[in-house]
Order: sequence, then structure tokens, then C-alpha cells
Amino acid sequence: MRRHAISKGHDPARYSAAEAWARDVLAKMTLAEKIGQLNQVSEDSASAVLMDAVAAGRVGSVLNVVDPSEIAVLQAAASESRLGIPLLVGRDVVHGFEVMAPIPLGLAATWNPAKVEQFCTLTAAAARSRGINWTFAPMLDVCRDPRWGRIAEGFGEDARLTSVMAEAFVRGLQASPEDSLLACPKHFAGYGASESGLDYNRTYISDIELFNVYFPPFAAAFDAGAITVMPSFSDVNGQPGAGNRRLLKTFLRDRLGFRGLVVSDWAALAELPVHGVAEDGKEAAQLGLNAGVHIDMMSGLYERFVSELVDEGPENLEQLDALVLEILIVKHLAGLLEPNATKSAEPVIDDLLHSATELASESCILLTNEGGTLPIMNRNDSLAVIGPLADQREEQLGTWSFDADPQLSGSILKALKARWQGSLMYSVGLSHSRGMDEGGIEEASSIAAKATQTVLVLGEEAILSGEAHCRSRLDLPGDQLRLLDAVADAAEKLIVVILAGRPLELADVVERADAVLFCFHPGSGTGPAVADLLLGDANPSGRLPVTLPRRVGQVPIYYGRGNTGRPPLKGEVQFLDDIPVGAKQYSTGNTSYHLDVDPSPLFPFGFGKSYTDFRYDRLTVSVAGVGQTLTISIEVRVTNVGDRYGLETVQLYLRDPVARVARPVRELKAFEKVMLAPEESRRVEFKLSIQDLAYHDGRSWFVEPGRFEWFVGSDSTARMSCRMDLDASQIGDELLGHQNASY
Ligand code: BGC
Repeated sequence: MRRHAISKGHDPARYSAAEAWARDVLAKMTLAEKIGQLNQVSEDSASAVLMDAVAAGRVGSVLNVVDPSEIAVLQAAASESRLGIPLLVGRDVVHGFEVMAPIPLGLAATWNPAKVEQFCTLTAAAARSRGINWTFAPMLDVCRDPRWGRIAEGFGEDARLTSVMAEAFVRGLQASPEDSLLACPKHFAGYGASESGLDYNRTYISDIELFNVYFPPFAAAFDAGAITVMPSFSDVNGQPGAGNRRLLKTFLRDRLGFRGLVVSDWAALAELPVHGVAEDGKEAAQLGLNAGVHIDMMSGLYERFVSELVDEGPENLEQLDALVLEILIVKHLAGLLEPNATKSAEPVIDDLLHSATELASESCILLTNEGGTLPIMNRNDSLAVIGPLADQREEQLGTWSFDADPQLSGSILKALKARWQGSLMYSVGLSHSRGMDEGGIEEASSIAAKATQTVLVLGEEAILSGEAHCRSRLDLPGDQLRLLDAVADAAEKLIVVILAGRPLELADVVERADAVLFCFHPGSGTGPAVADLLLGDANPSGRLPVTLPRRVGQVPIYYGRGNTGRPPLKGEVQFLDDIPVGAKQYSTGNTSYHLDVDPSPLFPFGFGKSYTDFRYDRLTVSVAGVGQTLTISIEVRVTNVGDRYGLETVQLYLRDPVARVARPVRELKAFEKVMLAPEESRRVEFKLSIQDLAYHDGRSWFVEPGRFEWFVGSDSTARMSCRMDLDASQIGDELLGHQNASY
């Protein structure tokens, strides 16, 4: 039920009412009360110390208190404080609460923003019914390095897919002030580019890349109504996010037009001296104020030093007032002043489970399916279920699932048992994903030898991804490859299911298995979703939101790369083993590839198979209008040529082959997920505007006249293409820029 979304832009009357209230309250506040609004504290209960601080107005927001009665007690203390300002109560509701949807990377793999939005609305209501009113989500860090553990929390390598998911999340979380959570897109910006895929590491990102790749998802979230944001922990071009005035003022406010509040990441202000950009805590607090960080999450530095800073510099009082005013406006917009602010109805668990399971199903990506191994047609056969993740209802939930109820999560083994009619044998093989063989491999291969079908569930436990859980390798941990080899030797038909928090190196798995289903930790609905897919009660429709490398050494590998001046030519690259001993320097040809690995990915961005096949034809492009009214219409016919219902994700990519700043070889511009019955055809139409052709050169947005190439198909390697030419008169002055200016 949608009443009115929380958004600055959509309802000016609401914003004015919030501002009037905030100005009135601000005028009555003491210095200590103002500083209190900047102070956020994490506790797991309403301790006496916290209660006192709240009652005295020394704390404006809390995080990690989840017990509804404790939250109620804290809000009561806040309402009885001198000015009765309610608390923001934050929690990382990242992909669910008691019921978990797939990790965000899996949500991106659904390519289904409408279903993601529905789930977010339900999960927001579940958390809000406890009194939580703010979540530190969605994480919008575009990431092209699977070594980084937090790749699990984002939507993958692509700015457009991340932007679409950002909008869905924000709209879903903030569907109505009374039943919603305030969204907090994070971590502004470029955190996902941490050097060597190592968490908290520094990032150096050109303005061109910031504007074209890292900012657009945030802009989309703000357009959808997000009014809070969290800066990155990491050093972004020499200055950590929490003290980075250029990032938080010039870019976030002036260029992206953000209005709302900035909350630091956990103790990020206290880390400024550790980074080496502040002498001490006091200077760090000053940097935070200057950059426009409103709320200090857990460093206590504002509480300790802002009063002193105000005494020393009157301009600090002005800054403080501006920050407090915006915090108060956000509290009002979030509906915290409304009488039933903490009493929304809890959604029905079955609705949450249904939504999470649908998403789990649409998130699983069928990578290979030799000779139609899947779906398994005969449920009366003998089945062996093997693997350290086959019966792990907690590990399959993935990172950020500390509020999850494991009782609501069904394992793959349990779901297969419920559906299978023949004999079913189970062996864990290894005690956990990092486990070393203690005799389990032999037992596992012996049951595989007796079965007609074997389902082997491998991957990573939840703890191997997420914050501060980075890896230097992307292989299957522990003895899983040995388990795979032994089971593959014994099995008649081997189906491998991977549950993981990141892309993994899967060349060996692909070689040994008859079919591979890859799933980013799919959450509470894993069991039923995977079992239905394996048995053909559902048809796989997940598509990769990231490129799967062959080897970790290819990282970062992503589809939207630059062409280089020397792209490798297919069939003309010479690999290490083929180079004659004593070969001369130039004999391998000088192109851009590694000597020891095929330059292509194992599976490209956007890829995923179905149990049916789709044919594309009749691609057309037409252009109408001029400048801001220009519309591009691209149509294509898609036909289900198989004999099962199937969901196809029709993907549209652009290449701008000649520009003053080299553009990526392809960029995703639009996609649509369509359900097609056998033999059914559908015309899919994409409508784009001139903005979809624009790129940022680090100074402003441009569209250049000339040739544009469109590619349509099932993944980022789609071959069907058409061309479009635009001249300067069609582009109009606004986006034309100075065409003669050299970069
Ligand atoms: C993470 C944030 C998170 C915060 C609060 C930090 O360590 O980087 O993403 O929102 O903790 O839990």
C-alpha cells in the first residue's frame, strides 16, 4: 500500500512543513542539544548510560538496538527529553530481516527490480514494526574485483544495473513514512575500487570514472528519494570519505544536488588521524564539520570536540546549525513525529518468505547444461546429495544476516527430500567449505557411484565474504576440488550447485560437471528455489551481474572495459606453452593479453542459460525530436523457440566508437525481463533519451555527433546490432559542449 513516498522533491509541502518545524526547534536548542543530534551511539540494549544520554539530549540516533521494547523505552526517553526530538534508530537491514532475500549481488542477478522493490517494502515494514526506522542500505559500490569481500553487498560491476537496483531499493524501503525505513545509500563513493580488492584500502579514481561509473547509482538513489547517505571509509584520491570536502560538498551537494544528511561510517572520523590527514581527534572533528558530515557514527569526536571548536571559531556554529537543521528535517520527513511512528503492522512471514523465495529462484544462474542434464526429469531415480553447503541453512543466508531466523531458512537437502520420490542418499563430503578431507570424500564418492543423479553443493560459507573478508584467491576453498574430482569420477550425471558470496574461478567445475548452477548466497528461500529449478518446477532466469574470470590474475575483468590501442585478435594470440624457446622479443605480437590465460572471461556479464532457447530478430532503431526532447526507440522481436515457458532478459548495449574521451567497448543502457510461452513472440521496445548517450569528461556532460552502435541480445557479448547517426542539430546546444575543445 503506497501512501506518500519520503522524498524531498516529490512533495514540496511536506518538505516545507518539515523545515518549518526544524527551524522552530533549532531556535530553542542549547549548544549541547545541538551537538547531541550529531552523536550516534551503538548499543545492543537500552542501558542506563544510554537512557541518561538520550534523556539529556546528548544522543540523536542509535544503531544496533533491535529489541522492540528496548527501542520503545529509548524513544520514550527521547520524547520526555526537553525538546522531545525522536531518535533515528539504525540497523543494517541489507537484504532482509528475519527472512533473507539473496545477498544484493544475487538480487542484481535477478535483473528484476520490481520484485526487489516489493521485497524491500515488506522487509522495511518488518523492521519498522520493531521500531527501527533507518537502514544503512543499499550499498551502491560498483565493484570489478571479486577479491573484495563486500562485492557481496553491492549490485555488481555495472553502473546502469546498479542504478536500476538503487531506485528499486530506495522506492521499496521508503514506500510510506509510517511503514518504511529511511534508505542510506553507501559508501559515497568508489569504495568498491579498493586497491587489490582489499577492504579499507585506498582508491584513486579519475573524475571521468567517478562521474560515469561510481556516481550514477547514487544520483539514481537520490532521484528516487534517498535523503541520507554514508561516505566511504576509504581514502578517495588522497582524502578519506569522512573528511573529503571535494567529494561531499563539491560533488555530492553541488554537482549531484543531494539534500539530506550524511552519516559517517563506523568510527570513520576517528580514523582520519590514522589515515594521516588529521593531527588528532579535534582536527578530525573539524574536517568532518567542514566536509558536511552531519552524524558521527561511533567515534564520539563531535561529542568531545565540537563545543571547543565552536568556542574557537564562530563559523563552526554556523556549520553546526546548518547540520542540525538538516538532521531535524530528515527526522520529520521520515515520519518520526507522527503519532504512530513506531507502531506499523508486521508483515506476514509467509508473504516475506514467498517474496524471498521468488527472488532466490530468479537469482540462480544456470552456467552450463550439457545435453539437457537439467531439469532432472525422473524423480523416481536414485539421487545422491553431497557437499558442505547442501544442508546449511545459515551459511546460505550470506553476509549481514544477523537478524535472520535460521528456522525460516530451508536447505537444499531438505527441499530435495520433500520433492524426491526415489531413493535419496546424503553425504556431507567435507565438514565445511574450508574443510580438509577426513574420510568424507571417499564416502561421498561411494554414494555418487550408486546414484543415477548426483547434486554436489559447493562454494563459500557466509563468513568468507562481506566486510573485511577479502580473498587473494578465487578458488573453491579447502579440499573442495578434491571432492569434486572424486565425485565426478564416480557420478553418472553430476550437477554442481555453487553457493558463494563472490564470483569464483570455476573452470574446473565447468569441465567436470554436466551442469552448473551458480547462486550468490540466495537467502532463506534457497532450498525450495534451488530444488524447483533442478527439478524443472521453475526455469532458471538469473543473469550474471559481474563477469566470471577464468583466473584471479585477470581481475579486474569487466565487460565495459576500454578497447586499448591493441586489443588481442582472436586466434592470433600466442600462449606461454606455444612460445618457442629462444623466441625473439616481438614474435608473440604486441597485443593486450596475459600469456597464460585466454583473454575472454569464463562467462560474460549478463550471461545465464534457460531450459528453453530464445531467438532475436527484426531489430530496428528510430530517432525523433531534438535535444532534450530527442527519443530513441529500439525494437526487437524475441521468440521462445523451445518447448518450455521461460523468462528472458533482453539486454541493450551501446557503443560510442569515437569520442574525445575513449568510451567503453559497451555499456548496458536498458533491459527488460519477459516471460514467453513456447513459440510465443514479443516485440520489446526500449525508449531512450539523449541523456542515455551522454558521457562525462570530468568537467561536464557531453553528447557528441556521429555514429552510435546498439547491440541487443542475451548477454554483453550480443552480436545483433544496428547503427544510428546523430548530427549536431539533433543534439541541440545543451549537451553539445565545445566540440572543438581537445581533452
Ligand atoms: C560498515 C557500514 C555499516 C556500518 C554500521 C560499517 O563497518 O562499513 O556499511 O553500515 O558498519 O553497521
